[in-house]
Amino acid sequence: MSVMPILKMGNPKLFATAENVINPQSEEIKIILQNMLDTMQYFHGVGIAAPQIGISKRIIIYSVNNNPRYPEATPIPLTVLINPEFVVVGEDKILGWEGCLSVPNLRGEVERYHTIRATGLNEHGQPVDKIVSAFESRIIQHECDHLNGTLFLTRISDFSRCGFEDELNLQQGQTN
Ligand code: NI
Repeated sequence: MSVMPILKMGNPKLFATAENVINPQSEEIKIILQNMLDTMQYFHGVGIAAPQIGISKRIIIYSVNNNPRYPEATPIPLTVLINPEFVVVGEDKILGWEGCLSVPNLRGEVERYHTIRATGLNEHGQPVDKIVSAFESRIIQHECDHLNGTLFLTRISDFSRCGFEDELNLQQGQTN
């Protein structure tokens, strides 16, 4: 399929609320999923939401596997969540560094729920229901934010912990 252009912050489509997917197994959704995967891999994302390629539908995918943008992250197999939702498990929150293909070259520290129960449909239209923690939980929360028109920058509370990757690397020796 195709590597698609990534919409950047400032594009109004990134601030829209995405629509539910009615027929997860349609040919249209198969093509969107393949384009999301091709685009995520090309730009070395660990996750991508359909609105980032201009598709206002509630679809996210994620995968962590030797990613140069997150070299220390534990591998996570490719996961598709169509019409994803999550509920919080426990009250614990953790700070962690995030980036976003729609906000290139910037990283910031964002507070997220440590553990969530995520539900949705996979690429075969089958239900997914899993409890996830730490980085996987963070990715799902970040990508679900995209479906509701929210970018991670708006969740940063301490802007001394946000900046350009090259500057942060110089100052802190790491970005995640
Ligand atoms: Ni993002």
